[in-house]
Amino acid sequence: MTDRSWNADRSPLGDSSITDIDWTFSGANTRRLTHGMHSYPARMIPQIPATVLAHFKRENVIREGDTVYDPFSGSGTTAVEGRLAGLHAEANDINPLACLLTLAKSRPIDPEPLETACSWLTDGLEEELRRVRSAWAAGDCELNPSAVREGWFPEPQLYELVAIRNRIDELRDELSETTTPEVAEDVTRFLRVALSVTVRRVSYQRNGEYKRYRIPREDRADHDPDVYALFVELLRENAERMRSYSRRVDHTTTTTVHYADARVARAVEDNSADIVITSPPYGDHSTTVAYGQFSQDPAIIADRRGYEEMRAVDKTGLGGAYGQEPIDALEQYSPSLKRTLEALRKRDGRATDALSFFSDFYAVIEQVRRILKPGQPVVWVLANRTMSRVPIPTHLIATELCEHLGFEREHVIPRKIPTKTLPWENAPENVAGRTGEMMASEYVVIMRRP
Ligand SMILES: C[S@@+](CC[C@H](N)C(=O)[O-])C[C@H]1O[C@@H](n2cnc3c(N)ncnc32)[C@H](O)[C@@H]1O
Repeated sequence: MTDRSWNADRSPLGDSSITDIDWTFSGANTRRLTHGMHSYPARMIPQIPATVLAHFKRENVIREGDTVYDPFSGSGTTAVEGRLAGLHAEANDINPLACLLTLAKSRPIDPEPLETACSWLTDGLEEELRRVRSAWAAGDCELNPSAVREGWFPEPQLYELVAIRNRIDELRDELSETTTPEVAEDVTRFLRVALSVTVRRVSYQRNGEYKRYRIPREDRADHDPDVYALFVELLRENAERMRSYSRRVDHTTTTTVHYADARVARAVEDNSADIVITSPPYGDHSTTVAYGQFSQDPAIIADRRGYEEMRAVDKTGLGGAYGQEPIDALEQYSPSLKRTLEALRKRDGRATDALSFFSDFYAVIEQVRRILKPGQPVVWVLANRTMSRVPIPTHLIATELCEHLGFEREHVIPRKIPTKTLPWENAPENVAGRTGEMMASEYVVIMRRP
């Protein structure tokens, strides 16, 4: 049975209006329920969609059973909060790891199959991993980490991770014969998420970095993680999170995830969303947040994704190498974009990069207009970066581009970012010791489709 008593403590809105509350939500638990199952770069804090959903429910703009859509789902924050608010969730991302996380975090799993799957997986696992280590030491380990790049993992731990993944695959085959295909997929997805976190912790990847940086070579000898202990502890913690989430969410609503480019979003139907809540990337992935690099090894090992497939994520990201032709007329649609491009042209020519990013962004706004029902709200959570030390007012440019497409501006609310893992500073000239501020605040931009 669904437990609704949590509503009182989770609506950050109370009796206030959305322009009166403190949008920093400092001190709030941003990892509550399934949100804490896996980290993700530039994750939106759940309090933002929770507040927006509470506001529009109170205003009778949306109701239970409606659909919330997020074209840039990332780790699925909008989907989780949408489901908690009694809505269907539709989500989209070009990163296969983001699609896995969105489904794993937002689809509730009953305690019984969850417990059975966890015990099946961990029964005899410690002994199996011991055998893997012995085989590796004897030079006859037959496990194949395939697409994983050399030099990123301690050994034999890499082989232990592969052994866990193979066990999860076996479990899925076994479960498909004894339960429904949905339950088999849900529980194996859940197990892959715990493995994905373990992969990141076991690898030489530096903690807190979203790009692929390894810990220094001289420190690697001391990095000797216990794969079994890490994985089993994560399973226990995530199972607890899932149990609490599953009790609170309506099991009759649904989550649909598309592994697709938001500029096209073919599979998402016209006029299908009652509200859109999304936090787009801040700029092209290679100079801001490299979601593909962050996800590469976890997706390859835990979810059997290919190396080239993962490399494509940062190229397909807005403003990336696989972007569409820049739209020259765009500066006529947005005075703020025109001013920004002029400032960039005077500096060093990164105007082309900015124009190509906003041309891609514009294609997504067009899709949102197609997908959102008339009169319904879209909420953009936007951060402003700098390029070559020129501040890029993304919140103004996005607002003006939306207005050009007929959207009406409802609120533009600034908020400070107290907790996000973000590239706060970068050195635009690549000179050691010189840094430039990249992002310091965020804006919640609320608009209505005409
Ligand atoms: C700021 S993150 C979203 C974070 C998410 N709100 C969360 O809480 O985890 C932006 C996301 O946009 C995705 N993305 C970038 N370009 C995309 C595109 N062209 N189509 C679909 N998704 C894209 C990235 O893979 C990334 O997951």
